[in-house]
Amino acid sequence: MDILKKIENFREEEERLKWEGTFADYLDLLREKPYVAQTAHSRVYHMIKDAGVEEENGGKKYSFFSDQIYGLEESIEKLVEEYFHSAAKRLDVRKRILLLMGPVSGGKSTLVTMLKRGLEQYSRSDQGAVYAIKGCPMHEDPLHLIPQHLRGDFFEEYGVKIEGNLSPLNMMRLEQEYGGRIEDVMVERIFFSEDKRTGIGTFSPSDPKSQDIADLTGSIDFSTIAEYGSESDPRAYRFDGELNKANRGMMEFQEMLKCDEKFLWHLLSLTQEGNFKAGRFALISADELIVAHTNESEYKSFISNKKNEALHSRIIVMKIPYNLKVSEEERIYKKMIQDSDLSHVHIAPHALKVAAIFTILTRLKDPKKQGVDLVKKMRLYDGESVEGFNSQDLEELKAEHPDEGMSGIDPRYVINRISSAIIRKQLTSINALDVLRSIKEGLNQHASISQEDRERYMDFIAVARKEYDKIAKKEVQKAFVYSYDESAKTLMDNYLDNVEAYCNKNKLRDPLTGEEMTPDEKLMRSIEEQIGISENAKKAFREEILIRISAYARKGKKFDYNSHERLREAIQKKLFADLKDIVKITTSVKTPDESQLKKVNEVIARLIDEHGYNSTSANELLRYVGSLLNR
Ligand SMILES: Nc1ncnc2c1ncn2[C@@H]1O[C@H](COP(=O)(O)OP(=O)(O)OP(=O)(O)O)[C@@H](O)[C@H]1O
Ligand SMILES: [Mg+2]
Repeated sequence: MDILKKIENFREEEERLKWEGTFADYLDLLREKPYVAQTAHSRVYHMIKDAGVEEENGGKKYSFFSDQIYGLEESIEKLVEEYFHSAAKRLDVRKRILLLMGPVSGGKSTLVTMLKRGLEQYSRSDQGAVYAIKGCPMHEDPLHLIPQHLRGDFFEEYGVKIEGNLSPLNMMRLEQEYGGRIEDVMVERIFFSEDKRTGIGTFSPSDPKSQDIADLTGSIDFSTIAEYGSESDPRAYRFDGELNKANRGMMEFQEMLKCDEKFLWHLLSLTQEGNFKAGRFALISADELIVAHTNESEYKSFISNKKNEALHSRIIVMKIPYNLKVSEEERIYKKMIQDSDLSHVHIAPHALKVAAIFTILTRLKDPKKQGVDLVKKMRLYDGESVEGFNSQDLEELKAEHPDEGMSGIDPRYVINRISSAIIRKQLTSINALDVLRSIKEGLNQHASISQEDRERYMDFIAVARKEYDKIAKKEVQKAFVYSYDESAKTLMDNYLDNVEAYCNKNKLRDPLTGEEMTPDEKLMRSIEEQIGISENAKKAFREEILIRISAYARKGKKFDYNSHERLREAIQKKLFADLKDIVKITTSVKTPDESQLKKVNEVIARLIDEHGYNSTSANELLRYVGSLLNR
């Protein structure tokens, strides 16, 4: 569809969604759809919930966030349940400012932006529709028109609770424009839009000396005083502060803790009592979610100041730590690269993973548990299985350091290092070693890293490098085997036939000649030795495998190459051991002969076709692995 058509469709959609009617019409509508009268917090909660929730390993994954925020499922679940859900039920947390606390570039702004964009969308849906008194600069809730003494009756009839009083401006309009007839007051459907300043606001403090409270709560419009005769006429007031504009939706309060106190006091009353003071008017009721964000040190210095005590108790702090899973970190980089102008550069397979390994290591705290080192912990966190540990151990490891993830290297740093390497060297292709090198160089220039951390980080670069060496070797060896999976399967089937015959004290039959043969002890041992199974232990190992096979058969499951972790490892190592020499020779000779050249070209083609390399990165990989094998 061409873009003009889309624009037209959008406009038509806008027209279709419009609704306007009297307050009496609105009440009819409310009978049918009582949910349109929900509070701002409730609307946010339903927006998140309506997008879908998946149960995953005992935790919840909210689809609303999951396509842009990775690896923070636990923090998000806590945020949704403890804040949004409780707030939606009109519990007290609603009266607190939501403060997201986390390290730099940990996704706080991303999260807030998703809520804002989400609300804009949601207000266009049926479930998320919002109605307001027409012509009100604060898009006031029409139900405020119902006088206090009738609200009990209203609740009985409609099941909707009303909070807040009619604003001075609408009070006056009601008298002057509608002669006091509430039922005639015009109501319209509104659509949240940050650009149009409807229901979504952002307040960011500028110079504390010059900033005016008007930015938050609006101001007198001096040019109209003459017309209306008095400063206390609400029509002479511009309700155009961020708090006014964000009414019914949400306001982001940037750098809240850096802000001058006088701004914060307004929030106190707004959050606690649901109203704020503007100009010379009675208090103005507002219903909005206020979200702020900060980092840990700023927060600590804020709460250590006695003067902030009152405000402190009106804030609910939610931690947004860094992601701690390697695979999710890799996704973060991919997303950031896609959104940047680097998206045309070829990034060799595993380059981002290796960077992620480094980054996650800088964020993890040393495990106290017996037998676990930092690398094992990293794998367990990422959901890999590590011999000898289970999910119980994982929970214990997590419980050791509840404050983990609040420090370390941030994702933006890694992306900056990648882009600096690309730009400086004018590369069109970048591999894992380039990335690690650039990260390392950056650490030396990074002023805010302590000497101690720098040394630890250098060690992590070395660890990440070792992990890469393993990955690289495996990748090349796999590419050397024509159809790796096939070869592995053949070898395994062969091994299993022999094991079966051995355990049952049977003979095997040669498939070609039909001759009877004893089990091939040499073949079986050559595989078992790969994972250190001794002569004494071989019988137990073979029997264990047969038991596993029959257990699989009983459950109707197919036993295959991936069904037994140690066996798979043994088969893989055996395949690679057989290959080692040819890989070594082929990848490192300066002037390969014709057959070697052919093999190299085949391998390169396979790396490109099946493993995502380009010809530069495939050649670099081969050269590197050649040098590794010859060490
Ligand atoms: N867990 C995550 N999932 C997805 N993207 C992430 C995550 N953490 C960080 N990012 C990405 O990192 C970049 C920086 O994130 P963002 O600006 O939201 O962080 P922030 O916490 O607001 O940082 P600051 O404290 O510097 O304001 C963004 O591109 C964001 O998409
Ligand atoms: Mg931010």
